Amino acid sequence: MTSASDTSVVPATATSPGTEWWRSAVIYQIYPRSFADLTGDGIGDLPGITARLDSLAALGVDAIWLSPFFTSPQKDAGYDVADYCDIDPLFGTLDDFQHMLDRAHTLGLRVIVDLVPNHTSDAHRWFQEAIASPVGSPERARYMIRDGEGASGELAPNNWESVFGGPAWTRLVEPDGTPGQWYLHLFDSSQPDLDWQNPWVREQFRDILRFWLDRGVDGFRVDVAHGLIKADGLPDFTPDPAGGSMGGSTVGAESVGLEPGISDVADEETAPFWAQDGVHEIFRDWHELLAEYPGDRVLCAEAWVEPLTKLARWVRPDEMHQAFNFSYLETPWAGPALRRVVDDSISAFAGVGAPSTWVLSNHDVVRHASRLALTAENPQGAGIGPNSAGLPDTALGLHRARAATTLMLGLPGSAYVYQGEELGLPEVIHLPESARQDPTWFRTNGERYGRDGCRVPIPWEADRPAYGFSASGDAWLPQPDDWAGYARDAQVGVEGSTLELYRELLRLRRESMLGMGALEWLAGYPEEVVAFTNAGVTVIANTGQDTVELPAGSVLVASGPVAGNILPADTTVWLIAD
Ligand code: GLC
Repeated sequence: MTSASDTSVVPATATSPGTEWWRSAVIYQIYPRSFADLTGDGIGDLPGITARLDSLAALGVDAIWLSPFFTSPQKDAGYDVADYCDIDPLFGTLDDFQHMLDRAHTLGLRVIVDLVPNHTSDAHRWFQEAIASPVGSPERARYMIRDGEGASGELAPNNWESVFGGPAWTRLVEPDGTPGQWYLHLFDSSQPDLDWQNPWVREQFRDILRFWLDRGVDGFRVDVAHGLIKADGLPDFTPDPAGGSMGGSTVGAESVGLEPGISDVADEETAPFWAQDGVHEIFRDWHELLAEYPGDRVLCAEAWVEPLTKLARWVRPDEMHQAFNFSYLETPWAGPALRRVVDDSISAFAGVGAPSTWVLSNHDVVRHASRLALTAENPQGAGIGPNSAGLPDTALGLHRARAATTLMLGLPGSAYVYQGEELGLPEVIHLPESARQDPTWFRTNGERYGRDGCRVPIPWEADRPAYGFSASGDAWLPQPDDWAGYARDAQVGVEGSTLELYRELLRLRRESMLGMGALEWLAGYPEEVVAFTNAGVTVIANTGQDTVELPAGSVLVASGPVAGNILPADTTVWLIAD
């Protein structure tokens, strides 16, 4: 078994347990559509990524995770995969992928790709064959296809709703033109759910994992890793209207959940399509498969599961290696809630020998430079637009986002950074309705704006067309007119810029090995203050409005202006003892 990474500067040798790179890595999420467009069609591509990788090495991250670039009709921005082992022409070719991977490895960056196992695109050959084959055929058994209820099967098999709004079942038209069976789609109707009870499906995905591992990828981010198995009998489920997330219960009163249409969950009850015990044997199988490969390959779960003690089951020693910490992402900018979630995270993950992870933004949530200054509840997945309640103050949002990131990167464990947050980008609120593309927007008839506002192509150069995103000036979502100041070239080397703050945080984090450190809380501060030491560095975040006196020591880095030993509101510092 050889891989392209064997010859690169990223070590491919196994490390001793407990020191694997992913335990402390900072992983940068690239959203390929919106990163860099070399062909000029307005959609980012793999050659664009390759051309811009130096800037990520200069930023100081350890790895990149790329959202899907596989063959896809792009009904859900590539999370509707029609061929798992090929590249969509929008993004390039398999050769382009290999060049990107090799370049990343040469720069010392690991590469994680996105695996979407819960559902395929309806354009996938497997689904096309399924609906062309007779009822009861092995092809139909690949998917969650069921007879309807009612005298002639005219009613959906149960009452489940799609995460994106509307019913989770669509009726098929049989090859002879008559209305027929129904297929389940927890997401868009173009995303039929696979039947993971079927061994055939499991075998296909083993081959897909091998395909990418053989090419040298360092791991997989696993989409909807809590949804693969549905409860026996597919029982009806009525979500608690006040309930939480795409999975677990909520974290505290202020917490808001993902996609409320399907959100569940009263207390310990579990929706019959989320977090079923049967998912774990699938990940144990994949764990073994990855272990056949040299180096420390990683599986990262996207699992909206709460509480954290339950999420920890996804990262038991023989399952996945990491899980996104959405409880942390959902925590408001408030000292007591932050201390609680940090404690809960470290103890839950340490209980199974896994590192905690931390994340503030991704392609599914309102960017934290806006979210942290919202003044009204905003259920995750709803997005924000011109008519949303409680729209944020941009300056306050950025100020808090810088403080929140400075706190996050001071924590031990692994952290995720979403493209553009290092530039301080806010959510784009004023997108023309005609430009919106998120299926959520369409399936709720505009009731929810969805996630387009965090997916706008990022600015590279202040004075170039499309801020350097594409040479042609095209961008698949329009960029705001006032983004020149956020462009990377307007921030490089500029003292106090958000980009330089991230670079300094990442440099110091690496130098002091904060990712491998251990947290100790510091007592004696007001409750709005989050204060701890980690690997000799003192981190103090002031989430309140009153100023706070800093202890003796030298400030290594601060998220905002600090005069003398007075820490202002919404500001975080790292200090070392003199
Ligand atoms: C995950 C992805 C999201 C996608 C959904 C369906 O939550 O992060 O972008 O829409 O899965 O694949």
